Amino acid sequence: MKNSNQIFIDACNMLPVDRTPIWIMRQAGRYLPEYRKIRLKSSFHDMMHTPELMSEVTMLPINRFSLDAAIMFSDILVIPESLGMNFKLVPKVGPVFEQEILNESDIEKLNFQNDYFKNIYHGISLIRSNLDQKKSLIGFAGAPWTVACYMLEGKPSKDYMKLRSLLIEKPILYKKLMDKITNATIDYIDGQIEAGVNAIQIFDSNGTYISKYHYEKYSLPYIKKIINHINSKNVPSIYFAKGLCSEIDLILKTESKVLGIDWTVDIGDVKNKVLNRAAIQGNLDPSVLLCSNKIIKKEVSKIINSFGNNHGHIFNLGHGITPSVNPNSVEFLIDIVKELTAK
Ligand code: CP3
Repeated sequence: MKNSNQIFIDACNMLPVDRTPIWIMRQAGRYLPEYRKIRLKSSFHDMMHTPELMSEVTMLPINRFSLDAAIMFSDILVIPESLGMNFKLVPKVGPVFEQEILNESDIEKLNFQNDYFKNIYHGISLIRSNLDQKKSLIGFAGAPWTVACYMLEGKPSKDYMKLRSLLIEKPILYKKLMDKITNATIDYIDGQIEAGVNAIQIFDSNGTYISKYHYEKYSLPYIKKIINHINSKNVPSIYFAKGLCSEIDLILKTESKVLGIDWTVDIGDVKNKVLNRAAIQGNLDPSVLLCSNKIIKKEVSKIINSFGNNHGHIFNLGHGITPSVNPNSVEFLIDIVKELTAK
């Protein structure tokens, strides 16, 4: 494989790079005063579905910092909306659906409309034309398990018991739901790629609520189908496996080209287990960004030293950046990663 003109894509493909590329999960969010200003005037849904606004918000962190990739501004819960389930963002609660899934007929009724995504696809083309060619645009979707957790509860939950009991009690119905989410996600990913994204990340933020045994049988096959589809398009696939990062052999079965890891594991240990079968993205504890620059430098050095040779590493946090982070700390983080990894 030949080097592209994007350092982020080269690292995904485990090609030699001059330094470790960096982007930050949830980089276009509430810790930025300019995000909060736009959000005062526009609803979250307007920001996702107005191409100019979607592009403007996506570009906020790119204009402010020297990041190597943009991630399109959207949400994993657009998939339930494309299937007919709408949500509202409720302050201090998070996304709340008008109606959660209560019974079998609610699952039968789910009916995918690709038309729902048309403004998102326009937004992607616009972002790609506004973004420097050397920077990558990351598209994304949720893993079916993580998305289904929200569809059953109707809102964020501390344990997602409803989906867990559905899969145990009614596995056939569970499969019907997962097939609908998976097929919708594959169509959505095709649209994102056609519109111009350069890589796709699958967020499995609720991966931790499923047992290892159940994961292999009830979550992995759907993730694998999506990842195989992304791989068939020659676009790097990134699987963010929150809570599953000590089960490397299990998550490697997704066949993802990049594994995104949370902050609970040592990146060097992960690298030794992965043995060049995937590139690795991560994994600074997001709470480090609330500490002094001296601590940030120390914790970043630990990750870089633990990883060793910088090929196949994409620097990121181990989960999304939180609203209370000072943007100056983000700037320091990016500079220090570049300084410490430059050849
Ligand atoms: O990374 C980025 O900057 C791109 C945008 C992005 C958002 N959500 C914007 C958003 C991405 C990649 C997501 C993914 C997402 N959404 C996940 C997986 C990643 C993760 O953090 O675990 C999940 C579980 C969701 C569902 C979701 N959306 C929740 C639970 C919430 C409320 C909690 C929160 O963090 O505010 C949202 C709302 C949301 N999605 C906001 C943003 C910027 C906050 C919107 C606002 O209040 O202005």
